[in-house]
Amino acid sequence: MPQIRAALLFGAGAVLLAASILAVGIGARRGPAPAEEVTRSGYRVRRAWFVVLLVGAALALGSTFRFMPYESFRLARLPAGAHPVTVRLQAQQWEWVMEPERVPAGQPIRFVVTSRDVNHDFAIYDPHDRIIGQVQAMPGVTNVLLVTFETPGTYWIRCLELCGAFHQAMVRSFEVT
Ligand code: CUA
Repeated sequence: MPQIRAALLFGAGAVLLAASILAVGIGARRGPAPAEEVTRSGYRVRRAWFVVLLVGAALALGSTFRFMPYESFRLARLPAGAHPVTVRLQAQQWEWVMEPERVPAGQPIRFVVTSRDVNHDFAIYDPHDRIIGQVQAMPGVTNVLLVTFETPGTYWIRCLELCGAFHQAMVRSFEVT
């Protein structure tokens, strides 16, 4: 479960932090050290830390770059020969206008999302009420969300942006067949 992994990671980080505070505390009991000695080792630690951060950031960026949420990145990750079906979504206070209203399972769907009035947030929930995709619906802007529905059923669209008096009523279902 991701929550357990996150808790373990957080726990490991907390232990590391406590250990380093303890090490500094024990080191401080030796009394003041000459400035020249401290300066040299301090700069060494700082240089090493900078390299670690630089390499870490480059690795994180390089390994996650292909997961960028933009349309071109998502299209590039589709299997060869997959042709997305375009579905147009217009948000307005307080409903979703969807065209067409049914979508096929097992085929990438390209949701083209915009708004006729204010900012809304287009979120798709599966039949078990788990969120599977989300993108902003903004006036004058078209956002694209690529989703492949593996299983047929009744899916739900909910608005996740407070958009007025009946924001909570901005819910609709659609069928994946
Ligand atoms: Cu639309 Cu909240």
